[in-house]
Amino acid sequence: VKVQTDEDFRPNFHFTPEKNWMNDPNGMFYLNGTYHLYFQYYPDKNVWGPMHWGHATSKDMITWEEQEIALYPDEKGYIFSGSAVVDKNNTSGFGKDGKTPVVAIFTYHDPEGEKNEEIDYQSQAIAYSLDEGITWTKYEGNPVLPNPGIKDFRDPKVTWDDIHKQWLMVLATTEKTIFYSSQNLKEWTKISEFGENTGAHDGVWECPDFFPMKVEGTNETKWVLIQSLNPGGYNGGSGTQYFVGDFDGKTFTPEENMKALEEKHNFWIDFGRDNYAGVTWANIPEDDGRKLFIGWMSNWLYAQEVPTETWRSAMTVARELKLIKDKDQYLVTSAPVEELKKYRTVDYLIEKFNISGNSVALDKEDIDLARAEIRFKINDLKETTYNFRLANAVGEEFIVSYDHAKRQFSMNRSHAGQTDFSDKFASEIATAPRISDSDSLSAIILLDKTSIEMFFDDGKTVITEIFFPNQPWDEFSFASLEDFTVSNLEAYELEFNEVEK
Ligand code: FRU
Repeated sequence: VKVQTDEDFRPNFHFTPEKNWMNDPNGMFYLNGTYHLYFQYYPDKNVWGPMHWGHATSKDMITWEEQEIALYPDEKGYIFSGSAVVDKNNTSGFGKDGKTPVVAIFTYHDPEGEKNEEIDYQSQAIAYSLDEGITWTKYEGNPVLPNPGIKDFRDPKVTWDDIHKQWLMVLATTEKTIFYSSQNLKEWTKISEFGENTGAHDGVWECPDFFPMKVEGTNETKWVLIQSLNPGGYNGGSGTQYFVGDFDGKTFTPEENMKALEEKHNFWIDFGRDNYAGVTWANIPEDDGRKLFIGWMSNWLYAQEVPTETWRSAMTVARELKLIKDKDQYLVTSAPVEELKKYRTVDYLIEKFNISGNSVALDKEDIDLARAEIRFKINDLKETTYNFRLANAVGEEFIVSYDHAKRQFSMNRSHAGQTDFSDKFASEIATAPRISDSDSLSAIILLDKTSIEMFFDDGKTVITEIFFPNQPWDEFSFASLEDFTVSNLEAYELEFNEVEK
């Protein structure tokens, strides 16, 4: 039997660079109908190396077109992660002839400094574009924020804080987020720090994001801090936690229940192993008003060893974040962006589907499980374990279980195909807590060739995992020791222009 390798694994609807290595999403902004996505990129090899910013554009955040490399490393160092803003009022003065500058803020990482065991080898710098993000000029006054003598000092995320009328920058150090303020994107003043003794700390903090959000259905505004760390994620390796709280223009104060959290707390953007360094889009028009997010769909534990050669790593599907108040806790939920729905073709709708033993719900005759959206609900949950299973013709399987007695999901990819490229990939069964206490479970599941993204309970528990089956999945089934009924099962095949049928 022919087994899947390399290009067979290239996703149908998740962004991948045509060639070589990619990690974090960077500098995302929207302008004049186009969504921009930059990314940590090493164009010469399929493993991490001297970092550039690659670039891709999209009209809907689902299908992407790769563009020329946006930023190249230079004598000041590699171009590490960062952000971009549309400077509408030309506060930076980079605008010319009525052209609005887009300003990118990134980390210079000086590999020589690192080699010489100096500590101050990371600093923040800016570049601007006058052609809507295609070509960039680095500012001659770089760095705009020199290193104050801190070892990990990186990943600046800048937003216009319209409440306090300032540019705000958050950046990550080993165990803290540091906040800076500016009026012109060139001069930055430190205003506060956050994080010591708060949150998960079993690794280095990286890639923060910070923004206000309206609590769904209210007029209340709260501030959300997204803070990735590596290692120390919920299932080990890299992962992304968040905090909700108040911000007075200088200092971020988390809610009581988010003070002094530890490793296994419940405030993670995604509990799966493969969503890291995600941040949000800048400059989304007010009449849209969504908070749009994308993450890197891999994990530093094995990202450089996954069994693709031509390229390595994909992004998650773009997601809409919401802030809700659930009982007394604030939660950030995620859902795939609405734009995905316009790619639905074949549909398969069953109002009630009775499960007894292992019951195949969908097979490859129904829909192609390498580009599918599946939705369902299970009402009247019993104290038993519900299994959702992908399987193929060569006996491989990926199993997600929900144990309602323990209120816990688990994900087992140890027999899901190729795993031996890294002893970290499938050695353990990953888990995720169920956050909702409802007695019905709802699910949205997105399937691509090498990934599953699961949004349970309206995005309160989100789980993203990758896998490399030797043959495509050809059935999706439900099972439990007790009989049960799946309600409102909807499945859609997603059709993309590039896909030949
Ligand atoms: C996170 C990260 C960032 C850094 C970049 C380097 O994955 O380590 O902290 O800027 O990747 O590529």
